[in-house]
Amino acid sequence: MGKETTITIDNKRFTFEPDETILDVAHRNNIFIPTLCHLKGATPTGACRICVVEVEGAPNLVASCATPAANDMVVYSESQEVIKDRRSIIRLMLSSGHHNCAIRDFDTKDWTQFQLKVLEEDGTQDLCPVWGECKLQDLAYRYQVKAKGLPQSESKYPMERVNPFIIRDFSRCILCGRCVQACREVQVNNAIDFGYRGADTKIVAGADVALKDSDCVFCGECIEACPVGALVTEHALKPERFVKTQKVRTTCSYCGVGCQIELNVQHNRIIKVNSAGDVPPNNGSLCVKGRFGFDFVASPERLTSPLIRKNGKLEGATWDEALDLVADSLTQVKKDHGSDSIGVLTSARVTNEENYIAQKFARAVLKTNNVDHCARL
Ligand code: FES
Repeated sequence: MGKETTITIDNKRFTFEPDETILDVAHRNNIFIPTLCHLKGATPTGACRICVVEVEGAPNLVASCATPAANDMVVYSESQEVIKDRRSIIRLMLSSGHHNCAIRDFDTKDWTQFQLKVLEEDGTQDLCPVWGECKLQDLAYRYQVKAKGLPQSESKYPMERVNPFIIRDFSRCILCGRCVQACREVQVNNAIDFGYRGADTKIVAGADVALKDSDCVFCGECIEACPVGALVTEHALKPERFVKTQKVRTTCSYCGVGCQIELNVQHNRIIKVNSAGDVPPNNGSLCVKGRFGFDFVASPERLTSPLIRKNGKLEGATWDEALDLVADSLTQVKKDHGSDSIGVLTSARVTNEENYIAQKFARAVLKTNNVDHCARL
């Protein structure tokens, strides 16, 4: 057996595996180290530097997400120097963009009142669409950082609202690159990348075109990865975002994978779908259907009672009438042409349980294995 390798973080000793970083060991042992650019499972880039820690003997602070743990390494995760560094990183980020989330000029202990004041004065369009869910905002609270005193640099690039589902607000982008990694390493779509240089740097799709004109498949993985409000859905700019949502964990019904999703429900209506986090089988990822294909649930065009075609025209009917007609017709077809002349087409827009019942009915009652479903968005 090889010698056990250990690292000391904040005066506590921990063992570690050969491929673990300082951040991995810290998080595994419930030691808080903030991250912004770090995306679990993707190659560490060390782009944002918010995860810096002090390592004994090292000349500078090191990015814990990109530094492998080493035997006998001694780490301090929140020394004074570390805190000072993190505060200046946050301050610079807040000053370079449109982060009107009520931190910059915070002068009161009552956040909620202040938020309401900003809301009243700025109007909903201008208040950050991810207020309360932004990692940068969280860190500004945690480290009590304001950007007062620093010159405000505005974004060169206008908001992009021409895409289905996704709004890109470059004025809030902190260039952490998580969206690029999510697109490239998680979904393997390669639709976006860093473009231009220096102060002009921008996350671009293709040759800097709108997402809708690029290879983007609108899976929304980039929205899930964005730690700030630079990538949001249309919904995020609507007033409902201030109303509390009820979270309902469920299974996506679009295909047989069984992706775990979380519905955000307000007044019995789904307003947003997230992945349910780092759980199998999708481990945080979703496709365009699972993430955005939920409008049909509350569509006013949904049928609420059966229709029967009479003389070429669909007419309203009772459930008894409709069920009798279907039962008689299926019995007749089966008698005349056999079970295999019948096929049952179910839908991705009903629950898995309902699909199960439909196939059971097809196999056990109609005696056919001709079962399929339509997964159209
Ligand atoms: Fe480590 Fe960004 S989280 S550098």
